[in-house]
Amino acid sequence: MADVAVPVPLAIPNLPTPAGAKAEVGAAPATPSSASSSSTPDVAFLDTPLRAPFDAIGQLFDHLRANPAAAEALNATYPTRGVFKAAAVRNGTSDQKLTVDLSPNRLSGVPDALRATLAPHGFDRVLEFFGALMTQHLDPVMGALGASAAGEGSNSGIDFAPLHRARNVNFRLCDYTPDTAAPQSENGCGAHRDYGTFSIIFQDGTAGLEVESPARPGVWLPVPADRVVVLCGWSAFVLSGGELRAVRHRVRRQPGVRRLSAVLFVAPDLDVVLRPLPTAKQTTRFSNAVTSGEISVSWFKEFMGKRWRYREGNAQLEDGERITQDVDIERLLLA
Ligand SMILES: [Fe+2]
Repeated sequence: MADVAVPVPLAIPNLPTPAGAKAEVGAAPATPSSASSSSTPDVAFLDTPLRAPFDAIGQLFDHLRANPAAAEALNATYPTRGVFKAAAVRNGTSDQKLTVDLSPNRLSGVPDALRATLAPHGFDRVLEFFGALMTQHLDPVMGALGASAAGEGSNSGIDFAPLHRARNVNFRLCDYTPDTAAPQSENGCGAHRDYGTFSIIFQDGTAGLEVESPARPGVWLPVPADRVVVLCGWSAFVLSGGELRAVRHRVRRQPGVRRLSAVLFVAPDLDVVLRPLPTAKQTTRFSNAVTSGEISVSWFKEFMGKRWRYREGNAQLEDGERITQDVDIERLLLA
């Protein structure tokens, strides 16, 4: 697997230490209590010749912003949450970004006629890219993560493949445009961990993505802007028994600078029960809800999504709680 950097992981401490890394202001450090050794590849770079079509991605965002009818037609194909999300244009306190959220499932609901109108505006090139990314890298990355999570002295590794047969994946495009309700805000995407197994993030060369140092919670390390990065999420954390950490990350905006990214989210199948796999090292004490098998992926996704949409400005929390998503998830998962 010469194209996958995971077997020779670049764990968080190996990322370049930021000059003047600044402590996170006003947020309590939240770390899985079991933070495992720094040699696990819960953050890794992916060496790939594949390039995200950032010209097409920028073109698609420009088209949807300039043509409300096109955006409305696309959002009507997924009325539950929409596809093109632009809350940041009106809301200065939410994440200051625009997103396009697609998935194989949602694409099946896009009529051919609509797709034909979007095709020349970058849509088809974006879909070609995600198709190639899944074909070339999804299984190798998952295999490498599973092999690495077995711990020293184990031959077996963790076989994630049987839990990912249905391709519960999402395609996300992000436009950290300066043209939002709060042009000077540095908040592109608030600190969080992803819910799934892993995410593959392509960046357009503009700095902004940061991961939290596991050794120094609250210290943020910039990810080199020209690398493709693989980050593990909560599902990997539970399934691996805590061996793979869910990596806390965020995006900081540089006022006046546009940044584009393309992310493939890979999660277990919706009916999978989230608990440590038998072959996983048990490095973490999980809650009764986890160990007794009460938490399915579909339930967990919904639970996290509630907090998420609040942060992203696309919904209000019904209960009005202002608890951070990380603390909420830790209470749920950990003993
Ligand atoms: Fe994320």
